[in-house]
Amino acid sequence: MALRSSSKAAKQTSSVQELARKLLDVAPQNYIRDVADNPVSDCCNPSLKVPLVNMANLVNGGEAQEEELHKLYSACRDWGAFQLINHTVSDELVEEMKKQTRKFYDLPLQEKMRYARTEGGLEGYGQPFENNRNPQWSDMMFLHALPVQDRNLSFWPENPQGFKETIDSYTKQMRKLAVSLLGFMSMATGLKAYKFSEVCEDGILHLRMNYYPPYPQPDQVIGCSPHTDITSISLLLELDDIPGLQIQKDGNWATVKPVPGAVDVIIGHVTEIMSNGIYKAAEHRAVVNESKVRISIICFCYPEENATIEPVQDIVKPDCPARYKSISQPEYFRSYLDEKLESKQQFIDTLKVHGPHGFSQNCT
Ligand code: OGA
Ligand code: NI
Repeated sequence: MALRSSSKAAKQTSSVQELARKLLDVAPQNYIRDVADNPVSDCCNPSLKVPLVNMANLVNGGEAQEEELHKLYSACRDWGAFQLINHTVSDELVEEMKKQTRKFYDLPLQEKMRYARTEGGLEGYGQPFENNRNPQWSDMMFLHALPVQDRNLSFWPENPQGFKETIDSYTKQMRKLAVSLLGFMSMATGLKAYKFSEVCEDGILHLRMNYYPPYPQPDQVIGCSPHTDITSISLLLELDDIPGLQIQKDGNWATVKPVPGAVDVIIGHVTEIMSNGIYKAAEHRAVVNESKVRISIICFCYPEENATIEPVQDIVKPDCPARYKSISQPEYFRSYLDEKLESKQQFIDTLKVHGPHGFSQNCT
């Protein structure tokens, strides 16, 4: 969901936030989901709890680190997602980012439309790209934040004051966190830290701020359709204590309960490829709340432009052959965008090696 373009770009004049404000009883018909098509009612197994990982234990070393690396390994392998506490980004910066994102969405529509996405473009204020036929119940603001030379500042909000500076610091800090975390994820497989993290040091970071207005019958609409991210990792911040994000685990959906001060980490396709399938890209979705607005801020972290995306050398062994092709970063993005929208979820399948090798036990 991180990077999408639409051949038929949506007409960028609508805002679900406005729609929800004016709403009397029901949403326009095209927002209403067929239960068979989108069974939010299949939700949720309450005993499934997304794992919690404590960054402090990873950073501090010693015995606690060993134990935490095990937790991290299982979380990445079995879930492809976890909640990270004691991350290294300052509380002050996180709070500022939350406050200003909220202020941005509280601005009049006319002001937000100054940053509206343009026909065929990716960045700016608008609605999620795909599925105009059956749209999602959300608005978004999408910015190419890093590397700095990729920025198009005409989309960066002047209002609220200081937001641009906050976005600058926040995204830089989040990329540092992503690099550090990828290092530990690499260590957890028995590899040197840099194996997963190096390619992201000067990596790409796309920022997406999602706004999910409430809807009185939340199971009739979807905030964000089920998908996997094509990132290395995605780092999601919840603005309030309002659950909405759900992770697919062995055929069941698990609701992520916001933990104060935590960042929700979602593994994307790049990490699945680099780990040769040991770690999994998590399928996830977002449902809307019946009475409260939910806002999430996501940093989509990717390898830098010169990187090659492939299973890392030391993981590939004679009894554990490469299960994914090697592809340059620019080609990876190109082929993703070229894929037909309907087949997005199978994007990673196009990168799989089709050979005699099933997933060997020797790989884990
Ligand atoms: C996304 C996404 C979930 C959320 O934007 O890719 O998964 O809870 N969002 O906002
Ligand atoms: Ni996502």
